[in-house]
Amino acid sequence: MAVDLLLGLQWGDEGKGKIVDVLTTDYDIIARFQGGPNAGHTLEFDGIKHVLHTIPSGIFHKNALNIVGNGVVIDPVIFKKELDALKKFNLDIKSKLFISRKAHLILPTHRLLDAASEASKGKAKIGSTLKGIGPTYMDKTGRNGMRIGDLEMSDWKEKYRNLANKHEAMIAYYNVDIQYDLAELEKDFFESIAELKQLSFIDSEEYLYQAQKSGKKILAEGAQGSLLDIDFGTYPFVTSSNTTAAGACTGLGVAPNQIGDVKGIFKAYTTRVGSGPFPTELFDEDGETMARVGNEFGATTGRPRRCGWLDLVALKYAVIINGVTELMMMKADVLSGFDTLKICTAYNYKGEKIEHLPFNIEAENVTPVYSEMKGWKEDLTKMSSADQLPASLQDYIDFLEKELEVPIKIVSVGPDRTQTIHR
Ligand code: IMP
Repeated sequence: MAVDLLLGLQWGDEGKGKIVDVLTTDYDIIARFQGGPNAGHTLEFDGIKHVLHTIPSGIFHKNALNIVGNGVVIDPVIFKKELDALKKFNLDIKSKLFISRKAHLILPTHRLLDAASEASKGKAKIGSTLKGIGPTYMDKTGRNGMRIGDLEMSDWKEKYRNLANKHEAMIAYYNVDIQYDLAELEKDFFESIAELKQLSFIDSEEYLYQAQKSGKKILAEGAQGSLLDIDFGTYPFVTSSNTTAAGACTGLGVAPNQIGDVKGIFKAYTTRVGSGPFPTELFDEDGETMARVGNEFGATTGRPRRCGWLDLVALKYAVIINGVTELMMMKADVLSGFDTLKICTAYNYKGEKIEHLPFNIEAENVTPVYSEMKGWKEDLTKMSSADQLPASLQDYIDFLEKELEVPIKIVSVGPDRTQTIHR
């Protein structure tokens, strides 16, 4: 049985949580492969809204097992909060949530380092979620990190102390005003680790291999989006992991020839949170309407998201990099009411019209070239089948499918599980 992937194709916040939740009935195992609590995967059903940061989005399904893979970075304090929030649902978490021993730990000082690094950058800051993601992956690739499996060793506190001491010296080096009480932060950290240790730590690559061999269906759940990929995103305004399809291989230990469907999720328009280039960004009433109707506020930080028209140049790039085999278009309902919709089909790049993503898409290099399409007025949120979709939306979908050469299999028309149209 091949491992299917589900990935965000834009700058994150495409709606991966909802779709994993919708698709989980088809899978036995949901496995997160990268990122950490910078993610906020939102799920809505039975009138309740849930936001998950590290725990895979299959957790609410009775029969699905959930794995936090080696490529993920885990903050025990946030993890404990997530577990606490789930307690009232009686989900029997212990028997359905497993953590890779090779996943790295976010220490309190990683979060402080993130804040110090951002403060030192001034206007050039990345707009990080300040969850310690960058510093933790730096320690991973610098071969200094602490892993979940270390917590099973007797000397882990010594290891922790050495690393935290080094981090404190680094924080001082930044020479910025960061106030903190490490003793207080550590109290929380150690308590949370005690709770984390109640869960099963596994060699997840072996576990997944055996599961796959025995015919289990596995879905790898990505976090963030392709344009935030450390290699292929809008560097340096990116996150610190490989958010693209290859990240699932390294983040779970699944061989490339074992990957099956690659499900790519995108919004019918574009959003971005944090700093960095965004060619189709709107600063007018249209952008405000998208933000208001789409409730575009970060699930993790509450920051307002920047909004703009669909950038097909960037989307095509993401489809290619990931080898996307099927698409899911989210938040189509948010575009109801516009007379005209714009789709960016090319860039004017240094005086030349191009249709691929160049090295630098900063505003001084790139201006979007738009195609216009007729909008639709109908409220989509109560629609339940593809034949109910308005003709103009059907045209919008047809146009995208033709350009991207990949079928759009799901059109989402609202945040709830039930507001999902399969095509
Ligand atoms: P970091 O991953 O917290 O260091 O943030 C780096 C950049 O990625 C910032 O621009 C964040 O706003 C953005 N980012 C990180 N995680 C997410 C996410 O889950 N959704 C959207 N943007 C994200």
